[in-house]
Amino acid sequence: MATIIDGKKIALEIRAELKEKVSWLKSLNIRVPGLVTILVGENAASQSYVTSKSKACNEIGMLSKIEKLPTETTEEHLLGLIDHYNSNDDYHGILVQLPLPKHINEDKVIERIAPEKDVDGFHPISVGRLVIGKDTFYPCTPNGVLELLKRYKIETSGKHVVVVGRSNIVGKPVANMLLQKKDGANAIVTVCHSASKDLTRFTKDADILIAAIGKPNFITADMVKDGVAVIDVGINRVEDSSSPKGYKIVGDVDFENVSKKASFITPVPGGVGPMTIAMLLQNTFLAYIKITKQKLT
Ligand SMILES: NC(=O)c1ccc[n+]([C@@H]2O[C@H](COP(=O)([O-])OP(=O)(O)OC[C@H]3O[C@@H](n4cnc5c(N)ncnc54)[C@H](OP(=O)(O)O)[C@@H]3O)[C@@H](O)[C@H]2O)c1
Repeated sequence: MATIIDGKKIALEIRAELKEKVSWLKSLNIRVPGLVTILVGENAASQSYVTSKSKACNEIGMLSKIEKLPTETTEEHLLGLIDHYNSNDDYHGILVQLPLPKHINEDKVIERIAPEKDVDGFHPISVGRLVIGKDTFYPCTPNGVLELLKRYKIETSGKHVVVVGRSNIVGKPVANMLLQKKDGANAIVTVCHSASKDLTRFTKDADILIAAIGKPNFITADMVKDGVAVIDVGINRVEDSSSPKGYKIVGDVDFENVSKKASFITPVPGGVGPMTIAMLLQNTFLAYIKITKQKLT
């Protein structure tokens, strides 16, 4: 039976570590790290994500602000608001919750965020720096994956990591991060996607398998080798009449059967999911350190 990777516990540990650092700043009576989250429109899931992020900031003593804008907000107004926070010393991280309403160009909005405040790690400068191995903000979910591997001491150097999924928010960044010649990375990386023929040929060779597909229970036991470490990024809602809500959340991996072959596995929920907010807080703290240091020198 596999060791279950407890993302909830690790995320709480990281939050506690950051809380201690913020308390220390408070004791010095100096400015604390601040995150502003900009939400445009009424998307229920986005509202809930933004509330969770803000609550997490407050819990560790960081400054947090939610800018709620109506759906009909113009692109110009949104860009102006980003300019305002780019030059606001109280906020070190700026996060624009995606998706944005269709009339707003997401690329233009992301590119307007000052790279030194890009705590989501989606700015092309952050992405480029990540690819060439320079210091940057790593996007939160992929960074959570690497942090789990690190904290569970799962060796990546020289190991074959197979990533299923090539999205810009999970698959591509996690693959690029693991490819770097660095501690906690240095892996041999294969990236698979919907055009991959005979997917099992690749997944079966993985020492570490990262699933970021968005299809419930897609990775089955016959697709993996004994002893594989499995990181399941997927979050899928499936019908469940036994639940009062009528649904349950499952990952991209058939947890019940794959866990019998794996050495390590993340559950869903409680695996990668809780790490995303912890990494956002970590990036905000990092942004604070970089910005305040720059101002001092
Ligand atoms: N905080 C978190 O824990 C967190 C954060 C982000 C996402 N997620 C979850 O992670 C999952 C993936 O998210 P995402 O945004 O990366 O999804 P996405 O943008 O829809 O990308 C899915 C990827 O899976 C690939 N794919 C689809 N069907 C496939 C198949 N039959 N065989 C091989 N590859 C296939 C797609 O290939 P093509 O490129 O060829 O289409 C694509 O690259 C979702 O369940 C999402 O909810 C969780």
